[in-house]
Amino acid sequence: MNRFETLVQDIKDILGPSSGLTSEDVDVGDLTLKMERYVSDEKEWSKYALGNANMAYTRNLVDEGNGKANLLILVWTPGKASPIHDHGNAHCLMRVLRGSITETRYDYPDGKEAPMQIKKETTLKEGAVAYMADNLGLHQVANPGSDYAVSLHLYTPPNVAKFGCNIFSPKTGKMTHVPKCGNYSKFGERVED
Ligand code: SIN
Repeated sequence: MNRFETLVQDIKDILGPSSGLTSEDVDVGDLTLKMERYVSDEKEWSKYALGNANMAYTRNLVDEGNGKANLLILVWTPGKASPIHDHGNAHCLMRVLRGSITETRYDYPDGKEAPMQIKKETTLKEGAVAYMADNLGLHQVANPGSDYAVSLHLYTPPNVAKFGCNIFSPKTGKMTHVPKCGNYSKFGERVED
């Protein structure tokens, strides 16, 4: 096994039969440490990192664990960003594998039509690990660089892949439901999902 495969196996082992990051028998600190300690080697994960210059980013499935988690590699096109979105009541741990990404957090809109207010902006450099969940607000992820950026995301439960998420207009706060956030590839193979 190479070190990336070992990381994937370690994540699976830590999650065990649990329902995910918030389960009592899952040590999020342990998962964070495993992700942080992985010394990124592009050769080990490049088969999953399928990018597309016509999309802001692609979602590439690496592993489904015990069926209650999704491990994805996201490939961020230079200069592009995700919409402002929620996480479908799921929890996410993300590690930057290549480049730097910017995470901008927002509060949920209060129902009035108004521009969304930025709460916090963080630059996550290669190697950084961050946690996100709906109780922390909404966020937008961007690749401000001039080359592709790549990140590894663990989602539990895999709600967004199954039921989609909500996206929000930065100008008005208007929420739109996206019924499914599909995968661009699965286990290294391109799919129409
Ligand atoms: C996504 O999963 O599609 C967006 C990235 C994230 O917020 O984790």
